[in-house]
Amino acid sequence: MAQPQSAANPSQLDIRPLTGALGCEIFGVDLANLDEGTWEAIYQAFLDYSVVVFRDQELDELSFREFGLRFGKLEDEPFLPNKTETPGIYYFQGAGGSKKLSTQNLGWHMDHSYQKNPSLGAALYALDVPATGGDTLFSSHYVSYEYLSDMMKEFLEDKIAIHDVLQYGMDSGHYAISSAEALERLAKTRVKFPQVEHPLVCTHPETGRKMLYINKAWATAIKGLHGAESKAILDMLKVHSLQDRFQCRVRWYNKSVLIWDNRCVQHSPNVDYEEPRKMLRLAMHTDWIPS
Ligand SMILES: [Fe+2]
Repeated sequence: MAQPQSAANPSQLDIRPLTGALGCEIFGVDLANLDEGTWEAIYQAFLDYSVVVFRDQELDELSFREFGLRFGKLEDEPFLPNKTETPGIYYFQGAGGSKKLSTQNLGWHMDHSYQKNPSLGAALYALDVPATGGDTLFSSHYVSYEYLSDMMKEFLEDKIAIHDVLQYGMDSGHYAISSAEALERLAKTRVKFPQVEHPLVCTHPETGRKMLYINKAWATAIKGLHGAESKAILDMLKVHSLQDRFQCRVRWYNKSVLIWDNRCVQHSPNVDYEEPRKMLRLAMHTDWIPS
C-alpha cells in the first residue's frame, strides 16, 4: 500500500507521511511567503498524499485566502453561515459543546458531492482549538478501490450512484419533516439541490489513479438496481471504504493548516470535545465533473 511518489516530488521539502494509506505533514515552509518552487512541491505533495498538514503557520484572513487562491477559484459554502469579511473565507466553529448531540454530527462525507461539480478541496486554519479532541479523519478513495476484488471492480465499472443531500438529511434526522413549514423548506432545498449522478468508479483528473467514488453521507442509491440491491451494495461499499487501513487522522494545534483533495478522500470531523473552537475555512473550486 506504499504511496506512489511522483518524479516531480522535490526533495527539498521535509515530508513526513502520516500512514501507509494517505496524508503527510510538511515541515520547514512558511505558507505566507512561498516561492514558486516550494509551491509547486507542495502542490505535488497534495496530489501524492491527498491530505497535507502544516504546523506553526502565521496567517491572517488575507494570507490564508492568498494561499487558497493558488489552487484556483474559491467556492461559496452553501451550508456554512459564518462568512468573514474576506471573500471566500468562513469562520468554522465545529460542533464543540455538542458532544451529547453527536448523532447530529455529519460524520463521514466528501464535500459537495450533491452537486454536479464537487469541490477540488478545502483548507482549514486553526485559530483557537481545544488542547485535545476534534481530530479530522480521512479515508482514501484510491486505496479503497485497490482493495476491492477484481470481480467487484468489474461490476462497479459502469455503475452510477445517485447523490442526494435531501434524502440523507431526512434519513439522518438533520432535516425535519414534522410540519408543513418544514416540508416547504425541504421543497426549496430540492429545487436548489436536485439529485445528481456520479460514477462509482472515477479516475482522478490529475493523478490518473482510479478511485471508488463513494460518499457515506450523500450517495443514496445505485441507478438501475432494485432498492434492496442498491442498499445492500452501497452499505457494503460504505463499510469497505472506511476501513482503518485506508485512513489517516489529523490532530489539531493552534496555527495548524490542513488541506485535502476532496476528489479522492472522504473525511469525518470527530466530535469528542466540549470547548469551543475557531478555525478559518475555505473551499477550492474545480470544473472537473467526476468521471
Ligand atoms: Fe466536510
